[in-house]
Amino acid sequence: TYVVTDACVKCKYTDCVDVCPVDCFHEGPNFLVIDPDECIDCTLCVAECPVEAIYAEDDVPTEMQDYIPLNAELAKNWPTIVSKKDPLPDHEEWAGVVGKIHLIER
Ligand code: SF4
Ligand code: F3S
Repeated sequence: TYVVTDACVKCKYTDCVDVCPVDCFHEGPNFLVIDPDECIDCTLCVAECPVEAIYAEDDVPTEMQDYIPLNAELAKNWPTIVSKKDPLPDHEEWAGVVGKIHLIER
C-alpha cells in the first residue's frame, strides 16, 4: 500500500485524489490519508503530489513510520474525497515545515 506522510499536513494540495483509480483517499480537516485496504499499488498518486508526501509503505522514512498506522486509522473515520479542490490557504507557508504530525486535526 501507499502512505500519505508529513509534507501533506496543513497543505492538502489534493492533486493526488484525481488520479486514484479506486478512490482510496479520505479527507480530514488538514490532511489526507490512503485506505490501505483499498490501495492497489498503482503508484499514480506519487508523482502528482507537489510536496512528495506519498511513499510506498516499504519506503516510508524512519522518522515518519507513525504515518503508516495513522493512515489506516484515519481512513476508517474520514469521508472519501474523489476530486481535487483548492489547497489549504497557508499551504505555501507549511510546505517546507517538517514534523507536523501533532498538528493533524481529527
Ligand atoms: Fe490510489 Fe494508486 Fe495511490 Fe494507491 S497508489 S492511493 S491506488 S493512486
Ligand atoms: Fe497531500 Fe500531496 Fe495529496 S499534499 S493532498 S498528498 S497531493
